Amino acid sequence: MVCCASAIYLLGDPLAAIGGWRWLLRPGGRLALSAFGDLDGRWAWKQELLGRLAPPLDPLGAGCDGPAALEGLPRSTVAGAVTVQVERVDVVYADARAWWAEQWTHGERRALERMDSRALAAYQAAAFIAIEGCREADGALHWRPEVVYAIASTWPGHHQDRRPHPDPVCRAARRPATAECRPPAGRRDDAGMSEVTWESMADWYAAKLAAGSPIHQWTVNVILAEVDQDLDGRPLLDLGCGEGLVARELAQRGAQVTGVDLSELLIGHARRQEARRPLGIHYRVGDARTLSDLPDGSFAGVAANLSINDMPDLHAVFGAVSRVLRPGGWLVFTVPHPCFETPHAGWATTPDGRPARLVNAYFDETFWRSTNPQGVRRVGVWHRPLATYLNTLIGHQFTVARVVEPRPDAAVATLHPGRTEVPVLLLVRAVSHHAAPPATPQYPDHAQ
Ligand SMILES: C[S@@+](CC[C@H](N)C(=O)[O-])C[C@H]1O[C@@H](n2cnc3c(N)ncnc32)[C@H](O)[C@@H]1O
Repeated sequence: MVCCASAIYLLGDPLAAIGGWRWLLRPGGRLALSAFGDLDGRWAWKQELLGRLAPPLDPLGAGCDGPAALEGLPRSTVAGAVTVQVERVDVVYADARAWWAEQWTHGERRALERMDSRALAAYQAAAFIAIEGCREADGALHWRPEVVYAIASTWPGHHQDRRPHPDPVCRAARRPATAECRPPAGRRDDAGMSEVTWESMADWYAAKLAAGSPIHQWTVNVILAEVDQDLDGRPLLDLGCGEGLVARELAQRGAQVTGVDLSELLIGHARRQEARRPLGIHYRVGDARTLSDLPDGSFAGVAANLSINDMPDLHAVFGAVSRVLRPGGWLVFTVPHPCFETPHAGWATTPDGRPARLVNAYFDETFWRSTNPQGVRRVGVWHRPLATYLNTLIGHQFTVARVVEPRPDAAVATLHPGRTEVPVLLLVRAVSHHAAPPATPQYPDHAQ
């Protein structure tokens, strides 16, 4: 058994870690993980006080709380059966001093150590008052968080291929040379590093979403709030649909959805999900710059979540979207906010301790790659000034109906406190006034 108790959420790339541990397991061996679920609402004052009194801190790891997230991790890497159990535990403190002493024995001390003496004293005084709400009939203080346990069993024929891996790091970890742990396919850049592409990242991306990504789920919620609410029977296109997260949400709301993406592997993931749980979604491998096998005027709406920023040639993309939309049809898209997500933008702290975004190179319309080895944007993104997005839309006979710079929800704000200062996302809803020719009759059933 490999056991990782209350630590998986502290790792930068939990999927990669589990992918490594599984090679330590014998066939039939088990992987056990634990993390927290609900943290007991009576103690919410702690986060509120820390948010006010402690300086903002980067999260220690990628996070992974709650049953669905914890289940998704081994499911996407270890295979075999995964059992999840949730239990509420009872942590008892004799009094406020015992609680205070315990705060210095684990990760929480990171925030305490960064407070100056006044803030620390204010935190302790306010906590000693708030903590009284957690005193129970026995006179002690009780913290009753949920603990989630996930236990995954490997299948009997688990990694029987024992050929040595070509990579020395993998070889040291005794990983066999299976296709999945070969370096991703792709060209090499000047430094000889393998160049990441959507095809080489597809499995990683699909696993990341399966494991539950709060920031990605939030972007989906943002886009869903701005599509028409009455979708019943409407033919919609999910442009750059990836593994189909948005397409599935739209189909569940009654739309007849087509998903198009350039990555064959991601379309493969999307189709497998559709086969497991059919929603009537049609997936196609295709290029958003042409949408060559979709007829004119065939969709009532197009949604594109965080995909247009990955596509070269904005003119071609908006031109193709305008062509496949019916007159009056809408396009709702999100992109990393062009003003604050410029190439290699970073973070600083103001003299009064607030996070601040450091931005430059705004005017350079350019393709760039993040150097964050765990980030989605290592695949590369197109940075375009805000005016380029809006003027290109206008040039293709769209009117801008709504612009949203959403505030993060509670989960995203907790993970990335700086995101409460400047928007990370831009959403645009535009309506097409392109007078498309009548839809051609040969297009499949649901796009009419
Ligand atoms: C960040 S992912 C977003 C996927 C999906 N919309 C989501 O929310 O999970 C960007 C997607 O754009 C796709 N993409 C990039 N260039 C494309 C193009 N020219 N035509 C179609 N899809 C493209 C990529 O393959 C990738 O799946």
